[in-house]
Amino acid sequence: MIEVVAGPEVAEGSGDMLIVPVFEDLTWGPGAEWAVAALGEWAEGYLEAQDFSGKKAQSAVLPAGDSVPYSRIAFVGLGGEVDAEGLRRAAGVAGRIARKYESVITTLHEVEVDEAAELVTLGFRLAQYGFDKYRSDPKPAATTSLSLAGASDVADAVARGNAIADAVALARDLVNEPAGGKPPETLAAIASDIAATHGMDIKVYDESEIEAEGFGGLRGVSLGATNPARMVVMRHSPEGAERTVAFVGKGIVFDSGGLSIKTAKGMETMKTDMSGAAAVFAAMQAVGALGLNVNVIGIAPLTENMTGGAAQRPGDVLRARNGKTVEVMNTDAEGRLVLADGLSLAVEEEPDLVIDIATLTGACAVALGPKIGGVFTADEDVAETVIAAAARSGEQMWRLPLEASYRPYIDSDVADVRNSSTQRYGGAITAALFLAEFAEGVPWAHLDIAGPARASKAEHYITKGGTGFGVRTLVEIAEALAE
Ligand code: BES
Ligand code: ZN
Ligand code: ZN
Repeated sequence: MIEVVAGPEVAEGSGDMLIVPVFEDLTWGPGAEWAVAALGEWAEGYLEAQDFSGKKAQSAVLPAGDSVPYSRIAFVGLGGEVDAEGLRRAAGVAGRIARKYESVITTLHEVEVDEAAELVTLGFRLAQYGFDKYRSDPKPAATTSLSLAGASDVADAVARGNAIADAVALARDLVNEPAGGKPPETLAAIASDIAATHGMDIKVYDESEIEAEGFGGLRGVSLGATNPARMVVMRHSPEGAERTVAFVGKGIVFDSGGLSIKTAKGMETMKTDMSGAAAVFAAMQAVGALGLNVNVIGIAPLTENMTGGAAQRPGDVLRARNGKTVEVMNTDAEGRLVLADGLSLAVEEEPDLVIDIATLTGACAVALGPKIGGVFTADEDVAETVIAAAARSGEQMWRLPLEASYRPYIDSDVADVRNSSTQRYGGAITAALFLAEFAEGVPWAHLDIAGPARASKAEHYITKGGTGFGVRTLVEIAEALAE
């Protein structure tokens, strides 16, 4: 476990690795001039020979002699100018090159960006994240301390960075866990632990309550699974909080497609399909840890989408919690079925804002690729709130249209709506239009994170596998509503 602390100035410190920032064209950032002088004349030429010029995300590690109090000095590029996300990413690069070393010292927090110590804590820690629990020979990061050289008054910033890093790591752990290791009951128990730790209320509906309470979408999807479904409702209700936001996360523990079965390839990463629920649980943890003065309701419908003998069939009709009927044309469009109930439940609470988050459509991943989440809302103020929160958090989100004229594509011959579009294209939009049927009467936005929920390779503070995408935006949204 790594601790981030305020430490002595670079000239007075010591350790396994010192990390200093450099702007483009070898323009020294805080501490870099000292580092080059301490290393000696060869250092600058060595950096040039390594083609290190201070470009964004570049790094170079130099060995240091006996006269230097650090065993090695690393230079990290910031590029021409640096903003908050640039600093998070530079700290991520630092976290990666420091993995093997125990005591690490840096001056990155002295770069002139607001809340630099928080950003450095977050980026560095996220880059060192690993998921090793199933390895015989785990290789966790060796770093035990990151010392912010010469820092003072950074305790609050570091604490916030830690709270968010802990939350993102939790979401990554939940996503990286194999589906067999995280049945709905297990995930609900983890939610209960989070609630207990932070003094939140929690209600977990079991399979008979799911039926009795009219969660027909969740029930329909769960019919093909042996592991029983759960509906989780957590409440962070600090005394005196005036506003309420509800987060609803898609919790498909594994998406085989159901009878509309996926291909083998298409199923390989479908343990990721509970990333929305993971983001909601993690955001609830962060909201609790930060003690945000806003009511937050976290809702997660949890089930597997399997093909058992009792599985729902294409053409079956189910009734969601808000009374609307759905013709299930494609059992692989299951996320919207469970979210229908989650959203209905959220609407009943009459919150100021409802946000759902889901690995909902391959179409959104096709549209925006592996790094960008889609935002759908008919409400300009909500769009502004969500886009601004995402920008502050450093998560990339892009608004896509909730095109009302596409609504006929999900008309059903027998029910109020069908769960798959009659059109081949525009699947992310028709999915959002389906969800809108269950979010009527409240300000609402839908986040489709099918692309960015998992990464196929590591980059800066992103690690391969589950990314925890969405957690930071949800926390920023809660903060924006807090008094
Ligand atoms: N979980 C998938 C969406 C998905 C696909 C997420 C790939 C991440 C990567 C979702 O349940 C699904 O299968 N959606 C279908 C909808 C279609 C049947 C209308 C899709 O996107 O193909
Ligand atoms: Zn599916
Ligand atoms: Zn799915």
